[in-house]
Amino acid sequence: MDISIIGSGYVGLVTGACFADVGHSVVCVDNDQRKVDTLRSGQIPIYEPGLEDVVHRNVSARRLRFTNSIEDGVHHSQIVFIAVPTPPQPDGSVDLTYIERVAREIAEVLKEYRVIVDKSTVPVKTGEKVAETIRRYNKAGVDFDVVSNPEFLREGCAVADLMNPDRIVVGSNSDRALALMKKVYEPFMAPIMVTDVNSAELIKHAANSFLALKISYINAISAICEASGADVERVADGIGADKRIGRSFLNAGLGYGGSCFPKDVAAFIAISEQLGVPFLLLKEVQRINQVQRERFLKKIRDTLWVLRDKRIAVWGLTFKPDTDDVRNSVAIDLVNNLLQEGAIVHAYDPKGMDKVAELDLCKGVTLAKSALAAVQNAEALVLATEWNEFQRIDFEQVRKAMHTPIVFDGRNLFDPGTMKELGFRYYGIGRAG
Ligand code: UDX
Repeated sequence: MDISIIGSGYVGLVTGACFADVGHSVVCVDNDQRKVDTLRSGQIPIYEPGLEDVVHRNVSARRLRFTNSIEDGVHHSQIVFIAVPTPPQPDGSVDLTYIERVAREIAEVLKEYRVIVDKSTVPVKTGEKVAETIRRYNKAGVDFDVVSNPEFLREGCAVADLMNPDRIVVGSNSDRALALMKKVYEPFMAPIMVTDVNSAELIKHAANSFLALKISYINAISAICEASGADVERVADGIGADKRIGRSFLNAGLGYGGSCFPKDVAAFIAISEQLGVPFLLLKEVQRINQVQRERFLKKIRDTLWVLRDKRIAVWGLTFKPDTDDVRNSVAIDLVNNLLQEGAIVHAYDPKGMDKVAELDLCKGVTLAKSALAAVQNAEALVLATEWNEFQRIDFEQVRKAMHTPIVFDGRNLFDPGTMKELGFRYYGIGRAG
């Protein structure tokens, strides 16, 4: 199939590369000429395991190319995917400016039937607006269909998620469009769920909000565990063994961050309010997520007392492991809180430090060269992101390097018993210290 993807950000680039890898001919469009140049020169603007290989392989095979021209993209393809950002506005609702602009731009160059697929996360009923807009701006009155095809990939395993999805959701009110969409996804051998456009759009917000709710649920339980002496890890295993519940997304910690969950929960609340059916449960999900990091800070304060001039090591800055993404990272928020209280923070992250430095996200932090360098003379170590690398570290050396061996484990990465045996005072989340 000939496919174009408008927007070469996270979702667009990974989708384009994977479509090319299964044999489609793909043009990735972006209006940022610098990004197009970077991609053409073989560099990948984001860190995502496996992505570089897939891009290089398919560019060499001439199945993948990059352009800044929407016209080029639309003419090249039977199917045009829209994967542009849908950022949050201050009140939590979604800013659809980019979607609207792309819809107009497509309309202006549309000369024959195309399927326009919305892959960006958008509020329910956006497809209707996109169709209306294209109809209004396409002077030739060309036939087209608008389809919703939400993306569920996770950062850090985006290529694997895209190549082996649990399901593919296609929201379409047209058999013609559906037949083409099925051809696009045939090589993936995954179940295709066909719905109407509105339901497909709703599935994305409902799925992400449910996962956020699962995280807040276990985090609320972690507070009860701390108050009662129970262990949240055992509780999560116990409830997660029930197949109806499942163990995944029941990892208690500092709460969820990143560019999806905080934004999607806020958007879903705003959507429900606009529709006149406010989803109050999700406000509690947000509240628990906020309180969780405040409880953790309190634990640090209660243990170390005054933080001013205390040297604290922080391991992990990205919003989760295996990514260099530091947007909406709980770890960054935590570092800034410690700095604000006067602590001297030495932080280390395997992949996120360049972005922290580039965007100046933690004013006053010292970025250490290694995990061990960060803990030199530290009065406490805070684990904020659960990178594998931190599990393999020689903790004898860590203890020797630290001024006082105290560990606050914000992701329950380490075993409390082992840490105690190694001579640390250990504080996890929702488990006996
Ligand atoms: C998420 C969805 O999983 C994905 O389907 C959607 O397309 C985009 O949003 P992503 O944001 O990349 O993906 O990361 P994910 O692995 O879901 O983690 C999100 C946040 O939740 C992270 O901050 C993570 O640390 C946190 N989390 C996750 C927990 O605190 N506990 C868990 O059990 C799982």
